[in-house]
Amino acid sequence: MNAPSTETIQRRIPVAGPVVIILAVLCSAAALAFYKREQPIPVDAIPHIDRTGDYVSADTCKKCHPGAHASWHNTYHRTMTQIVSPETVAGDFDGRDYTVDGITYNFYRDGDLFMVDAKKKNSVGKMRSLPRFPRRVVMSTGSHHYQAYWVPNEWAAGANGQAIQINRQPIEIPLYYNITEKRWIPKQKSVIEPPGTPGNSAHWNSHCINCHSTGGVPRFDEATMLAESSVADFGISCEACHGPGREHVEYHQNALHRYGQHLTGGPDPTIVNPERCSTEVSVMICGRCHSSSQPIDLEEARKHGIQYRAGDDDLAEHLTFADFAALPEIDDYYGKDKINPDGVQTPTSGHTFTKVFWKDGTCRVGGDEYNAHIKSPCYLNGDLTCLSCHSMHASDPNDQLAAGMNTNEACLQCHESFRENLEAHTHHAADSSGSQCYNCHMPHTTYALSTAMRSHRIDSPDVQRSADTGRPDACNLCHLDQSLAWTSEYLHQWYDQPVATLTAEQATLPASLLWLLKGNAIQRAIAAWHFGWEPALSASGSDWEPAFLLEMLTDPYAQVRFIAHRALRGFEGYRPEQFPYDFWSSEEDLRNYQRTGFTNWNTDHPPGSELSDRIIELTGEESLTAFLKAMSGERDNTPIEIPE
Ligand code: HEC
Ligand code: HEC
Ligand code: HEC
Ligand code: HEC
Ligand code: HEC
Ligand code: HEC
Ligand code: HEC
Ligand code: HEC
Repeated sequence: MNAPSTETIQRRIPVAGPVVIILAVLCSAAALAFYKREQPIPVDAIPHIDRTGDYVSADTCKKCHPGAHASWHNTYHRTMTQIVSPETVAGDFDGRDYTVDGITYNFYRDGDLFMVDAKKKNSVGKMRSLPRFPRRVVMSTGSHHYQAYWVPNEWAAGANGQAIQINRQPIEIPLYYNITEKRWIPKQKSVIEPPGTPGNSAHWNSHCINCHSTGGVPRFDEATMLAESSVADFGISCEACHGPGREHVEYHQNALHRYGQHLTGGPDPTIVNPERCSTEVSVMICGRCHSSSQPIDLEEARKHGIQYRAGDDDLAEHLTFADFAALPEIDDYYGKDKINPDGVQTPTSGHTFTKVFWKDGTCRVGGDEYNAHIKSPCYLNGDLTCLSCHSMHASDPNDQLAAGMNTNEACLQCHESFRENLEAHTHHAADSSGSQCYNCHMPHTTYALSTAMRSHRIDSPDVQRSADTGRPDACNLCHLDQSLAWTSEYLHQWYDQPVATLTAEQATLPASLLWLLKGNAIQRAIAAWHFGWEPALSASGSDWEPAFLLEMLTDPYAQVRFIAHRALRGFEGYRPEQFPYDFWSSEEDLRNYQRTGFTNWNTDHPPGSELSDRIIELTGEESLTAFLKAMSGERDNTPIEIPE
């Protein structure tokens, strides 16, 4: 849904009657003072905590389950949504300016308060603070890769342009703090979106609440735009996965009940343990959030939230899942008609769900593991659940993989026969990265959070499929210097797959270069990430890649530039202190960085040098410049948006 942006509100207020304007100004001034200084955070600024229903909160569980509470406390699930305080903020509130869409934001501290100011240039070029800024930052989203920030939003534009009050609908500041990079990055540049896509500001209460809180009830009223929202816990806590706990807690107040349940050791009928649920239900518990889905009844969901409770088997009665087979407009979206010959991007159209899939029907969005998982043969014909590999209480918070499940054990637990004859199946030495089941059967072909992630649809490499649908195959994502024809030859020899029918280019050029230089934005992003992936560099040689990564520093998509630069700076000569590239640079500066990079490359590797010969071998061209120009000229500019 479209949240009214600050700009919309400003533009619309003058249209309203004078009384409204005066009221708005008075109230804004009062609100400003209020939000700036008031401590604790004003009750209307964020959803309130409501524990009067079936949800009782993590604090209540702690008393009897201190161990489970402690392990959960370490996870990023817990810190998904937080009230802003010195303990929870990751971002630099150090008073520096960042300009996005003509508005300059400044994040700073005022004692224990976290503030954001926003200014815009007026006609004489002077900076003017926007009305109702500075504002106090009240809530945050994320704590692992990104952290987003929310400020109270007192006013929005009503249907007739009048200013109306919105309660408890915090709005998002359009910059994310990238925690790994330790820097602010505009929201639009933190996601894969066609360049020039207009900015938007999300509504937490009526949307994010569904997956980023526990027991969230938006109580959003379409008519008044009021949202008297509540949550049982900010963040993802016990009852998101174990179901509402009131009955369980009340039952176990009685020592006899506690003792009795402990003795039986059987399932406790008053609470849900995902490990004891059926395969389908266990996966649904996670799939409620880890999926590309939409509430079946949107209006109902905006009022009462998604009513699905962990342990129930009726998730499909609450959510419609993105399903490749059910897509109506797939040809339209993937068709070449959207490509503008000038390379100018046109807005994406087609069904939102089409963006979720590669053309072979595999999910390509990180965070949507459920849509991928339920298409795996091991789930369809077996008992694969998320808990086959992940554990929510005994794992490293970074990926929550259970002990040993980052190795072949994850697959061998069911595919026992491969233990004895591993090399016969993989055709790589047992200790090679090419003998890890994950690397061939769950390659990094999904994108989210500035990174390539493992596909959660277990399948096998297939060159014909890759050539026909554009989803990169596992072999060529590791063997960056080989063509599809090379791979096809080995798949034929080793696994008796039919030899693939390929274009001349697919037969001769390294597949990775085709994806990197002339692929669409997600192919380019996935390929660029693999140019910095250690197993790929050890399989393909780790000296020639910078020649191609440099080209990506001026890609039209900010995320492709970002990922390529992150890979590039891992190479000698391009480390941050050696190549001081800056993500905030203007287009002109980016071109200058690129030019300097190529000059250095050519100086270091003159014609006749070993690496220069290697590049000629890879590209089949005497001139690197001519090759890059020709390839980029044929870049697939289909607008790509990845709905993370
Ligand atoms: C359908 C469920 C769902 C909804 C709705 C949703 N998210 Fe998320 N979000 C996720 C999942 C799952 C992840 C973890 C993704 C991963 O690790 O790949 C995530 C991760 C994130 C992260 C990164 C967190 C971190 O610690 O790095 C941010 C930021 C984020 N979401 C913002 C939002 C915002 C803002 C909204 C509302 C506009 C929203 N999300 C709505 C499921 C959802
Ligand atoms: C993201 C989902 C999730 C959250 C949040 C979560 N759990 Fe769990 N819990 C699980 C799963 C899944 C299991 C099964 C074992 C595992 O994965 O580690 C489990 C197992 C348990 C068990 C049984 C462990 C045993 O002894 O076999 C208890 C008790 C428990 N959780 C309590 C809690 C409490 C208390 C909280 C909050 C403080 C919590 N859980 C938060 C998913 C979750
Ligand atoms: C008053 C004590 C008490 C409180 C509070 C409590 N539990 Fe329990 N819980 C128990 C007892 C007793 C058992 C039985 C476990 C045993 O064998 O020791 C149990 C078992 C469980 C199990 C395992 C169920 C199974 O079938 O395997 C889960 C999961 C669980 N509790 C989650 C929670 C969550 C979530 C909360 C908070 C909403 C919570 N508990 C609050 C006492 C409590
Ligand atoms: C209420 C929504 C919700 C439920 C239920 C849920 N998750 Fe998550 N999960 C999220 C969000 C949001 C994130 C992103 C957290 C972050 O990184 O800040 C996440 C992160 C993760 C991560 C990655 C941790 C990281 O930060 O990289 C794993 C793995 C994961 N979840 C697995 C599971 C599994 C397995 C289940 C079911 C037992 C489950 N989740 C249930 C919303 C949920
Ligand atoms: C066969 C094993 C397996 C199964 C089943 C599985 N995962 Fe994963 N998952 C992995 C591996 C391996 C990773 C990558 C971890 C890493 O790179 O450190 C991962 C990563 C993730 C991530 C983090 C993404 C990232 O790279 O930051 C999330 C979230 C996640 N899984 C959720 C789920 C959910 C939800 C399910 C069930 C629908 C599930 N997984 C089923 C093995 C599995
Ligand atoms: C919980 C058990 C389980 C786990 C864990 C598991 N699988 Fe499977 N897998 C199965 C079952 C059952 C089948 C269906 C067998 C059949 O149809 O013959 C299957 C099928 C497959 C197939 C397709 C077989 C075919 O003939 O098309 C592949 C490939 C596969 N698994 C690979 C893996 C890999 C790789 C992993 C680890 C990343 C893994 N599996 C983890 C149970 C599992
Ligand atoms: C070097 C890449 C590679 C690695 C590593 C690999 N596989 Fe495979 N696997 C393949 C290919 C290719 C196929 C498809 C064969 C075909 O087309 O019939 C396949 C097929 C399969 C199948 C289905 C057909 C069969 O032979 O039963 C299963 C199950 C399977 N692999 C499991 C595993 C497991 C488990 C591991 C780790 C122990 C693993 N694979 C490691 C490439 C690999
Ligand atoms: C995760 C990385 C990785 C993946 C995926 C991978 N390989 Fe390899 N491969 C290697 C490495 C590393 C070597 C070097 C020798 C070794 O370690 O076994 C190698 C060696 C080879 C070799 C022999 C040496 C050469 O370059 O001529 C062939 C052929 C080969 N791989 C083909 C394949 C095919 C076909 C696939 C897909 C089914 C595949 N590889 C998947 C990493 C990988």
